[in-house]
Amino acid sequence: MDMLKLICRDRPTIGLTEFLSIFDIYSGNEEIRKLEEKFAKYIGTDYAVTFSTGRIALYCLYKSLAKGKEIIVPAFGCMPIVDSVVWSGNQPRFADIDIDTYNINIDSVRNEINEKTAIISPVHLFGLPADLDSLLELKEKYDLLLIEDAAMAPGAEYKGRKVGSFGDAAVFSFERSKLLTSYQGGIVTTSSEKIYGALQSSKSEFKNKFLNGHKNILKLYFYHVVSNPYVWRILYNFWRRRHPEETENIGVAEQPLPKKYLIDYAPIQANVALKQLKKLDLFIKKRRKNARYLTKKLEGVEGLALPEEPDYAKHIYARYVVRVKEDFGIDRMQLKEELLKRGVDAGLWYIYSLPYTDPYNRVGDSCQNALISSQQTLTLPNYPSLNDEEVKHIAESVLEIKDNV
Ligand SMILES: Cc1ncc(COP(=O)(O)O)c(C=O)c1O
Repeated sequence: MDMLKLICRDRPTIGLTEFLSIFDIYSGNEEIRKLEEKFAKYIGTDYAVTFSTGRIALYCLYKSLAKGKEIIVPAFGCMPIVDSVVWSGNQPRFADIDIDTYNINIDSVRNEINEKTAIISPVHLFGLPADLDSLLELKEKYDLLLIEDAAMAPGAEYKGRKVGSFGDAAVFSFERSKLLTSYQGGIVTTSSEKIYGALQSSKSEFKNKFLNGHKNILKLYFYHVVSNPYVWRILYNFWRRRHPEETENIGVAEQPLPKKYLIDYAPIQANVALKQLKKLDLFIKKRRKNARYLTKKLEGVEGLALPEEPDYAKHIYARYVVRVKEDFGIDRMQLKEELLKRGVDAGLWYIYSLPYTDPYNRVGDSCQNALISSQQTLTLPNYPSLNDEEVKHIAESVLEIKDNV
C-alpha cells in the first residue's frame, strides 16, 4: 500500500448533504420531532427522546427510574457506562463478561443481584447484541428494570428484531465514531408512556446553546477530513513525536457531572442524523461485508481470537475487535506497532476494565474476563469508506506480521 497513507482507526461516513445542513437556517424543533419519530419507527418502539449525548440520555433515564440503588453494568466498556450511573445518584455493580463476545455474562449478573438492585443495564458492546432472552428472564424473575445500552448498536438484531426494543428503554449514541453520527447526540427509545413522560420533563431542563449545533457539525466535517488516510499519516506522525507512548482511551471518571453536557440536542444535528438514518442500513451492509472479509482471511491464525456472531445475533461491527492471545507470539501493543509500520492504525478499545479504574479500585478477581480483554484486545479499522484494497491490506498486514514472529 501507498506508504503516504495511514488507515485511521475510525472515520465518520458523512457526505456533502450532511455538511450542507450547516446552511439550513430553518432547522427547528420540527427536525427533532421528525428524528425522534423516525428513529423510534426504525427501532420498533412507540417513542424516542433525543439528548445532547448518549451519556446524558443514560443519566436522565437512570435518574427517572432509581435513586440510591444499584445498577448492574458490564465490567468491560467505556467510562460513561459508570459515570452516568453515579451522576444519577445510584451505584454501579459490575458483572463480568463472556470472553468470546465481550458481552455481559449471565451467571455473573445473577450472582450480583441483591436487594439493592433496581436495574440491569447490559451493553451491546461493539455492535453485538447481548443475550437478551436470558436477561429478560432475570428481569422477570427478580422484578427488575432492563435498560439496554445500545450506544454502539443501532440496527443490530437479536433473533431478527432490532435491539433497543427489548428492555424497558434503551440508549443510542450519535457520537462521532458511531455508525450514525451528528458529532454528539444521544437518543432513548421506549414503548413505556410513563418513561417517555419522565424523559420529556427531564429534557425541559436543557437549553440550546447558541450555534453549538453548527459548531458540532463543523467539527464532524473537520474530523472526517483529518481521518482521511493521507492527512492522518501526517497528523499521526506529528502527534506521535510528541507522545511516544500511546495513552488514548485511558479510563478517567468525569465526576461530578460536567456542566458542558447540560445542554439540549440541536435541531441542526437532528437534521444531519436524519440524513444519516437514511443511509444506516447501507453502512451496516458495508461494515458486515468488511468484517466477513477480515474474518475469512484471518480465520485459523494461531493466537488470534476473532469477533463472534452467535446464531441469535446480527452484529453490526461498530468495532472489529480481535484478541491477541499469548500464543500469537507478540502482544497486542507489539502488533499495533507493527501494523503502524504497515500503514494501519489499530485502535485500543479498551485498555481498562471498569472495576479497576480509579474511583473503584476494586481488589479481588471476580471480573477476570474483563481484565483479560482490557489487556489483549485490539480494534482493526472497519468503516464504510474503506475500499476493498484497504480492507485487504489490513488483513494481509496481520498475516505478514504473524508469519514473521
Ligand atoms: C457503550 C457506550 N455507552 C455509552 C456511551 C456514551 O455515549 P456518548 O459518547 O454519546 O455520551 C458510549 C460512547 O461513548 C458507549 O460506547
